[in-house]
Amino acid sequence: MVEKNLDFRSDTVTRPSPEMREASYNAKLGDDVYQDDPTVIELERVGAEVLGKEACLFVTSGTQGNAVAILAHTNRGDEIILEERSHIYVNEVGGLAVMGQLMSRTVKGVNGHMDPEDIRKAVRIENIHFPPTTLLCVENTHNSAGGIALTVPQMKSYWDVAKENNLGVHLDGARVFNAAVALGVDVKEITQYADTVQICLSKGLAAPVGSLVVGPKDIIDKARKYRKMLGGGMRQAGIIAAPGIIAVTKMVDRLAEDHANAKVLAEGLTKLGIKVVNEVQTNMVYVDFSSIGWTAEDWNKACTEMGWKSRGRGTGTRLVTHYGIEEEDINSFLENLAKRV
Ligand SMILES: Cc1ncc(COP(=O)(O)O)c(C=O)c1O
Repeated sequence: MVEKNLDFRSDTVTRPSPEMREASYNAKLGDDVYQDDPTVIELERVGAEVLGKEACLFVTSGTQGNAVAILAHTNRGDEIILEERSHIYVNEVGGLAVMGQLMSRTVKGVNGHMDPEDIRKAVRIENIHFPPTTLLCVENTHNSAGGIALTVPQMKSYWDVAKENNLGVHLDGARVFNAAVALGVDVKEITQYADTVQICLSKGLAAPVGSLVVGPKDIIDKARKYRKMLGGGMRQAGIIAAPGIIAVTKMVDRLAEDHANAKVLAEGLTKLGIKVVNEVQTNMVYVDFSSIGWTAEDWNKACTEMGWKSRGRGTGTRLVTHYGIEEEDINSFLENLAKRV
């Protein structure tokens, strides 16, 4: 039985499945700082295999995973290139400036996609006045662009420019499995065009905690040391790694249900006159409810009264579908909303 979770705020709200809870309870444990927790070792083995990389590191969160990967790629004073609305640039507390003393150079994307020519232009030439550009960061799916899945050829186009200029490529793949499912490709087709990848276990894949960082062994070894520096060395972490194994091995295919539900939701909202502002490709629907004359207060009140959590701000909000929301829930949400608009 899937526990209902009528909460549109994010897919981070997902709660572990009964099988995940059982797996935590029964997990074999060790001390992961000594690298002898068998469940973490197994999660890292599976993670590397599924994502097609040599090595893997279990970290506490997506933010920590991006940070340790980027720190492992760079040196103090380097410049890195990011899409201007990327999560790393906008929503990770400026950590790279603080921890890595890195310069950020942003490139404007269209629907999350950067023009490879713009990336090329952003790379610094060798000059005594300039910091060296050493890393390109890519986000797939792109969250603030509306959960857009960047295609395999797009990924390749970034990779080609990066490699022509000797840059590393880090993929913030918090939701890269959503991208793979939406594009109908094996996730490795996407991840082959990044040196390192961060994936979140605790979003649509429904594990309670954690992310994985994968990449070449030398970079992951460095990332492991940075994780320790940041206080992310965990001990009997098998308790939280066990659900992660289920996340990557059993929860990926069901993301298609979330995508289908997002489409049903978007169509229903459009019929009610509520403007959907993104192209719905994965599990996110961005709406502008000012199209029916509603304020954020009106939206939030209506959702609360209907038993849903949603966080309207200004003239709109983001609605995210995930484990714990089924098609019948979307239909009943739309029916109830129809009575109020
Ligand atoms: C694209 C993207 N990257 C990274 C993160 C950070 O993950 P966490 O909240 O686990 O730190 C998020 C979180 O929403 C995200 O959407």
